[in-house]
Amino acid sequence: MKIKKAIIPAAGLGTRVLPASKSMPKEMLPIVDKPAIQYIVEEAVKAGITDILIITNRGKGIIEDHFDHSIELENMLEKRGRTDTLKELNELANLANIYYLRQKETRGLGDAVLRAKEFVGGEPFAVLYGDDVIVGEIPAIKELCEAYENYGKSVVGIKEVSDELIVKYSSMKVTQLDDKNYDITDMIEKPSLETKFSNFSILGRCVLENEIFDILERTPLGVGNELQLTDAMKEIAITKGMVGVDFSGTRYDMGNKFGILKANIEVGLTHPETKDELREYIKDLAKTL
Ligand code: UTP
Repeated sequence: MKIKKAIIPAAGLGTRVLPASKSMPKEMLPIVDKPAIQYIVEEAVKAGITDILIITNRGKGIIEDHFDHSIELENMLEKRGRTDTLKELNELANLANIYYLRQKETRGLGDAVLRAKEFVGGEPFAVLYGDDVIVGEIPAIKELCEAYENYGKSVVGIKEVSDELIVKYSSMKVTQLDDKNYDITDMIEKPSLETKFSNFSILGRCVLENEIFDILERTPLGVGNELQLTDAMKEIAITKGMVGVDFSGTRYDMGNKFGILKANIEVGLTHPETKDELREYIKDLAKTL
């Protein structure tokens, strides 16, 4: 079955990037010239997803405005003959069918996903975490959708991370299936180094079967007193098994300050308008470090 619907949870408090995220969701922080969430919506659209639900909290208005027409701006660009920018803005306003829902209490990623039950209906669906931008030739969520079609099981995007990070993320019990796919039979959220299964962690993307909603409804609050999506997925991993895809793109964590800087430098080094100037600037700067 083709995946047509996606959820982008963007209702976290983003405390690690305060004060930038005080009055604006961290998902709206830019990488060069686009907010993080635009990269994520574009990734979903490139993978054939047509309907996207963004779970919001504060700052809902600016996310909605970003994916809508701005008539005043468009009129002005037309008058000034800025046809390329006008075309870009028009495309942005017509990317996909985008819907919005407020998560009334910040009760965790699992709770944010649970809000989408009605929107999803009975279908399998994709989840793209709003603060995880993945840049690459092939959209990461497309690689996950393909694995879902091939294996008929729920899928998560995984990468190996350092010991320092694994204790802050989730850890997967894996057996390798082929070059990039892994069988997952258990998982743990924010393990200690003694309880981790491996250094493979879920990084920002999943394709889930509808059963996740029933499981989330009876999953107790976990780490941080929040409803953890990992705790619910663990049940699927243990009972049916899941597939982990070591996706090919580079992932940037827009939920922490260094991740935001890395994203801007690396994407800036490939962006046609900034790459040459930025390369020269970094080379000169490096001499002074
Ligand atoms: P994080 O785990 O990074 O949570 O969420 P956070 O609360 O925003 O971050 P810190 O720890 O306070 O800095 C992963 C994704 O899930 C969303 C976030 O917006 C982010 O895109 N999320 C998290 C929700 O939508 N709702 C929640 O209740 C929690």
